[in-house]
Amino acid sequence: MREICVEASRAYRVQVGSGLLARAGEAIALAHSPCRAAIVSDSNVWPIYGEKLVNSLKSAGFNPVFFVFPAGEASKTGETYLTLLNFLAENRLTRADLLVALGGGVVGDVCGFAAATYLRGVEYVQLATTVLAAVDSSVGGKTAIDLPAGKNLAGAFWQPSLVIADCDALATLPPAVFRDGCAEIIKYALLYDAPLFALLEQTGLDFPREEVIARCVEWKRRAVQADEFDRGERMKLNLGHTLGHGVEARSGFAISHGCAVAIGMALICEISAAKNWCDASVFQKTKNLLEQFGFSTACPFPASALAEAALSDKKRRGGMVSLIVPREIGRCDIVPTPVDGLLPLLRLALHG
Ligand code: NAD
Ligand code: GLY
Repeated sequence: MREICVEASRAYRVQVGSGLLARAGEAIALAHSPCRAAIVSDSNVWPIYGEKLVNSLKSAGFNPVFFVFPAGEASKTGETYLTLLNFLAENRLTRADLLVALGGGVVGDVCGFAAATYLRGVEYVQLATTVLAAVDSSVGGKTAIDLPAGKNLAGAFWQPSLVIADCDALATLPPAVFRDGCAEIIKYALLYDAPLFALLEQTGLDFPREEVIARCVEWKRRAVQADEFDRGERMKLNLGHTLGHGVEARSGFAISHGCAVAIGMALICEISAAKNWCDASVFQKTKNLLEQFGFSTACPFPASALAEAALSDKKRRGGMVSLIVPREIGRCDIVPTPVDGLLPLLRLALHG
């Protein structure tokens, strides 16, 4: 097991390893004294891991109750959030009690936002069961729900008290969901870590789970500690995401988040190579690695449609959008770009 300590507005440990869910109660008891624990999970994860977690929490002296909602992004709504708040109130959870998110990023985001706002804030623990949750969403305290106008439009920064990523849980992921999270791993490698990039080139999808996930969490820790509230360094974690969100939105969400981010990363590398912001080999190596992981790197939309979709992204600030551009494998910069400069850039890589 590897442990990373995040020193943010709340300090907490991130544990990455095997067999951790069965021992979660013990670990949680070290972070929070035994109390009522409201487990929040989804309809796919709960039947596989719910009983194991309940038994572990009870053995450690916690009194668990559970709230399970239908799996998927469609549940990340105000309705699910309010139903959860009512569940907590009806079960008379107090500020001395605890929420426990058991699932991927959707569960973590909804549970975290409820924790941030119920009784003006209660502690919560993240038990990450997807690759994306393990390397990204469970760490750093961004919590959110979607609104009809867009994704993650209501939320709060609220750090967890403990994060546990049990690598064994990744074995039950549908292959497409597993791969989706790998786009974030490739993102960390391109952003910060050339040796990790080289390791992934050697292993492809068979990368050593614990080592690679812990390494990504370490990069996330550094970004969060440098810039907890996402005004500078942390924005680099959006590498591939501004264009990726455009691809996702333009496809009506038929293209998954990870697949869209993969296309976004390939595009920004191609644009950066065309602008001489980086060597052409950065584009070629990134494209090859993404394709080795099974991602398509071809953008199915013309430049004009993608520019329009990408600019409705909430990362647009005033007349500027912050593009994260690669300089070399393992080093990227934030390049503030005027909104009307995006289409000409996209035309360096796409027709239309
Ligand atoms: P998800 O939570 O929807 O999980 C994907 C699917 O896998 C779901 O059907 C889920 O039920 C299933 N699943 C989860 N764990 C499983 C397991 N171990 N075995 C079998 N099935 C399992 O999706 P995700 O990709 O984990 O997260 C995406 C969400 O995360 C989005 O809403 C996104 O906005 C959010 N996100 C948040 C942050 C943040 O910093 N808070 C960062 C990135 C993404
Ligand atoms: N997922 C990007 C961040 O946490 O800032």
